[in-house]
Amino acid sequence: MSKVSGNAVDVNLLRRIFRYVTPYRNIFTKSIILTVLLAVLAPLRPWLIQYTVDSYILLNDFRGLVNMSFIMVALLLIQTFVQYYHTFYTNVLGQSVIKDLRITVFNHISALRLKYFDRTPIGQLITRTVSDLETIADIFSEGLIVIVGDILQVVAIIAVMLYTDWELTLIVLIPMPLLMAASYVFKEAIKSAFQEVRTQVANLNTFLQEHISGIRIIQYFARENQEMRKFKKINARHRDAHIQSNWYYSIFFPVVEIISALSIGLLVWYGSKLIIANDISPGVVVSFIMYINMLFRPIRELADKFNTLQMGMVGAERIFKVLDTDEKTENKGILKPETLKGDIEFRNVWFAYNDENWVLKDISFHVKPGETLALVGATGAGKSSVINILNRFYEINKGSVLVDGKDIRDYELNYLRSHIATVLQDVFLFSDTIGNNINLNNQEISREDLVRAAMEVGAHQFIEKLPGGYDYDVMERGATLSAGQAQLISFIRAMVYDPQILVLDEATASVDTETEELIRHAINKLMEGRTSIVIAHRLSTIQNADKIIVLDRGEIREMGSHQQLLKFNGYYKRLYDLQFNSEGIAKA
Ligand SMILES: Nc1ncnc2c1ncn2[C@@H]1O[C@H](COP(=O)(O)OP(=O)(O)O)[C@@H](O)[C@H]1O
Ligand SMILES: [Mg+2]
Repeated sequence: MSKVSGNAVDVNLLRRIFRYVTPYRNIFTKSIILTVLLAVLAPLRPWLIQYTVDSYILLNDFRGLVNMSFIMVALLLIQTFVQYYHTFYTNVLGQSVIKDLRITVFNHISALRLKYFDRTPIGQLITRTVSDLETIADIFSEGLIVIVGDILQVVAIIAVMLYTDWELTLIVLIPMPLLMAASYVFKEAIKSAFQEVRTQVANLNTFLQEHISGIRIIQYFARENQEMRKFKKINARHRDAHIQSNWYYSIFFPVVEIISALSIGLLVWYGSKLIIANDISPGVVVSFIMYINMLFRPIRELADKFNTLQMGMVGAERIFKVLDTDEKTENKGILKPETLKGDIEFRNVWFAYNDENWVLKDISFHVKPGETLALVGATGAGKSSVINILNRFYEINKGSVLVDGKDIRDYELNYLRSHIATVLQDVFLFSDTIGNNINLNNQEISREDLVRAAMEVGAHQFIEKLPGGYDYDVMERGATLSAGQAQLISFIRAMVYDPQILVLDEATASVDTETEELIRHAINKLMEGRTSIVIAHRLSTIQNADKIIVLDRGEIREMGSHQQLLKFNGYYKRLYDLQFNSEGIAKA
């Protein structure tokens, strides 16, 4: 958890937040006008009451009293309306600003390169785009504008009090420094209490998110009781944090009551003296009681509102930090040729995810248009990394990667990526319809295209059998589909985009023989007429490849066709005997 830094009012930060207010200038202006209006209207009622007491009640003027009552009811109505619009507009303002900001943040995050996500927990990014943003809305609805309004109101009330009777005002305000000191102590205490609450809420969220996502593991291994004990502990800390913050309130509010009683005591004591001496009218004392109440409420709440403001500033700081991370894949290329042939060449490519921990060392190969290259090798050999590089998901450190003889960095990034279809090992499905999961909401792809691609891949039949067919709603992460079915859908995804280059991280997920057959067929269909780089586990895929590369700890051990490599009687032959022989016999 990052700590609360700096002041509640950081001018640069505020200025940056206010840039997002610009489109809502009108609402902002209205909010400010209403704030001032509320502050000015506040002292009016006590003043009217004072006038009523002195000019009508004490003089037994019933008609005048009734008239004044009507005026006060009218004033109350006006105040109610102003208050309503004030609350409404400040909330509209806050929500509008964070709506824009949230879209900006999401857009920004979407464009960040994968390296950033390797280091940033997903939960953290979700917190940024949801709760941290919420605190910014509060700057407008509960923080800044309301604080300004409260201060204005305090100033207006004290001004009217001074104007009415400065001597009495000064006497009555004697306990005020006490109140300010108490508020300050409270503000500091509640700040750390709130931070603790936020930390505990985050812990609770993380625990729940992970354990609900991983519920299968917990149940398979019967870990419910142990996890429950952990959960109880986290909950207890969560409760304690809340109790702590509430405890400060339960001390602070009575203290404020005592201080305000002190003020009223002073008022009664000194005010009566003045009345007896005929220096002031009784109406003044009545109105001062109301003024004092009106003074104490905003000052009491100011501490709270400063915290809200501060939370908003912290939230803003965190969000701007995300917006300031400039970890995007450089997109300076301009090449967008009409057609790609699909010629791929790696020239002395060196690559590391971090520093100089080379994951790929001096890799060179050439795949001609329409050919298939199979990558084999042990787990961690660097097969997936080869794929990640071609799409520029990660940038190489040395050497060059060429497509149709041109460096991939010279192509426009989206152009490059849309001409390379990548099917990854673990299929991710969104909670959406099958259709939208295939075309990824690209409206240019028609239902006919979908069906044609599905038929080619051989998945049309199984989709048709689902309730609703292509409109069947896939639950989160495709939980309602089998691994094989999900894989087939990812194949249609690639097929429907009809790319020149196909990149496939073949899943090893064991599937039943029928699905296995479907997948084998689908892979063959997908590779037809395309340049393919396939991380192959299935013997059939490997055998039919034009070229096979055996990767070992980031280096090319052997390269050639299936027959060549078998004859070579080296690493591939051993791997083949070890991994594929039994399967080969079974399938032969
Ligand atoms: N995102 C990543 N960040 C850092 N290291 C990674 C990342 N992905 C993979 N690696 C490392 O790179 C090496 C090669 O991984 P990978 O290309 O996925 O191997 P393969 O696909 O052959 O199993 C492994 O040592 C792995 O730990
Ligand atoms: Mg891999």
